[in-house]
Amino acid sequence: MPLSIIILAAGQGTRMKSSRPKVVHPVAGRPMLLHVVDTSLSLKPDQVIVVVGYGSDTIRELMKGQGLGFVEQPQQLGTGHALAQCLGDLNQGNDVLVLNGDGPLVRAETLQDLLRHASGSSVSLLSFMAEDPHGYGRILRNDDGSVNAIVEEKDASAEEKKIRESYSGILFIEASKVRVLVEKLDNNNTQAEYYLTDVVKHAIAEGLNVSVTICPDADEVRGINNQVQLAEVESIYRARRAGELMQQGVKLYDPARIDVRGSLQVGCDVEIDINCVFEGDVRLDDNVRIGANCVIRNAKIGAYSNILPMTTIDEAIIGRQVSIGPYARIRPGTECDDDVKIGNFVEIKKTKIGSGSKVNHLSYIGDTDMGSGVNIGAGTITCNYDGINKFKTIIEDQVFIGSNSQLVAPVTIARGTTIGAGSTITRDTPADKLTLSRSKQVTLDNWKKPTRKI
Ligand code: UD1
Ligand code: CA
Repeated sequence: MPLSIIILAAGQGTRMKSSRPKVVHPVAGRPMLLHVVDTSLSLKPDQVIVVVGYGSDTIRELMKGQGLGFVEQPQQLGTGHALAQCLGDLNQGNDVLVLNGDGPLVRAETLQDLLRHASGSSVSLLSFMAEDPHGYGRILRNDDGSVNAIVEEKDASAEEKKIRESYSGILFIEASKVRVLVEKLDNNNTQAEYYLTDVVKHAIAEGLNVSVTICPDADEVRGINNQVQLAEVESIYRARRAGELMQQGVKLYDPARIDVRGSLQVGCDVEIDINCVFEGDVRLDDNVRIGANCVIRNAKIGAYSNILPMTTIDEAIIGRQVSIGPYARIRPGTECDDDVKIGNFVEIKKTKIGSGSKVNHLSYIGDTDMGSGVNIGAGTITCNYDGINKFKTIIEDQVFIGSNSQLVAPVTIARGTTIGAGSTITRDTPADKLTLSRSKQVTLDNWKKPTRKI
């Protein structure tokens, strides 16, 4: 049977105490709703509908281009009311799987298990054994173990509140029963809301089959209602990603101190020291070592390269056996060939660096094409910008630039050039010669040290 997935995301999330809609608050750097959308799409459903209300423009904008349907719920009268708004948009004959937009950790495998288990049931729900069930709907079971109803925290008796088995917010309804069950919902409860959870009791009253799948990992179905829970989910997510990396053979110096906000692909024998952040798509080849406190975004780092502490790398391609840092900043458009060395307090932008070249200390190199075997002395900078335009510097193979030089672009430093220390180079240099621009050193013989006047 084709499947429609409905993601409930219309609430403000008042308990977050934030003006932004709850579901756009980030987990691992991305709106929590996007995690739910990704997982939903991975099941290849016929249709995904997101119910939006509070801050719907913001949410639609963030989710655009993914082929999602949106249904407005201008007034948030409850999760059941949210589903009712979708009835007109549902593709006829589709089974329905409802997910909460505030539960970003659920895995596709868990949803598939639920769907498999659901076959033959009119309603099927995912429950879990909560360590602290406070705030969740509780699963009421009969003496024979069959499910009877879900009672919300605020409607639960003291006795019911002791039940640990809780509702995850994830529920399946068979195609032919969606409309009948949703139309039975009312708001006769403490919160005067239309509870989706009441479909369970209505289904049972109708003599329909209701099944429950208990999610073995309670962390997976955590809902986020406040900042404390958001932080907890973030740390569970972090631990999950760290665990996956270690399973792939990565040595993490401390799995509690790594953040992966995107995809991180790794080769063999990769080591990552503490407090590193990976964003976007990052690939670390075999034997790469990342020192402490590095931030690496959309980058590929070749085998045996060593990224020393406090380095940031953003949109760059790094070759094999390259050493970068400590305290280096590699900006977008940088491409380093093999055996390059970039040292401390060096900034590189939109620059190609040929194999074996070195920029060891305190430099800015931007908009440059650098050949191989080049040595850039300490404090060298490319002056690539006149305030309006950017200009290119070309440094050919085997060039040696003396310390504290300025290369004023556009300029070409020909193959084998040596630039004398402290030069300001404004014109192209000839190959294999020493070029320098430096004012003559003078000493004033009759100079006197100033003395203080009283
Ligand atoms: C809900 C469940 C509870 C369950 C918990 C799991 C109900 C009545 N309760 O409670 O049993 O244990 O999730 O996390 O369903 N939303 C709308 N429109 C509305 C109201 C809510 O779209 O009118 C959306 C919210 O944006 C949110 C989701 O539905 O993404 C859940 O709403 P929330 O208010 O967080 O429900 P809980 O109180 O957590
Ligand atoms: Ca919730």
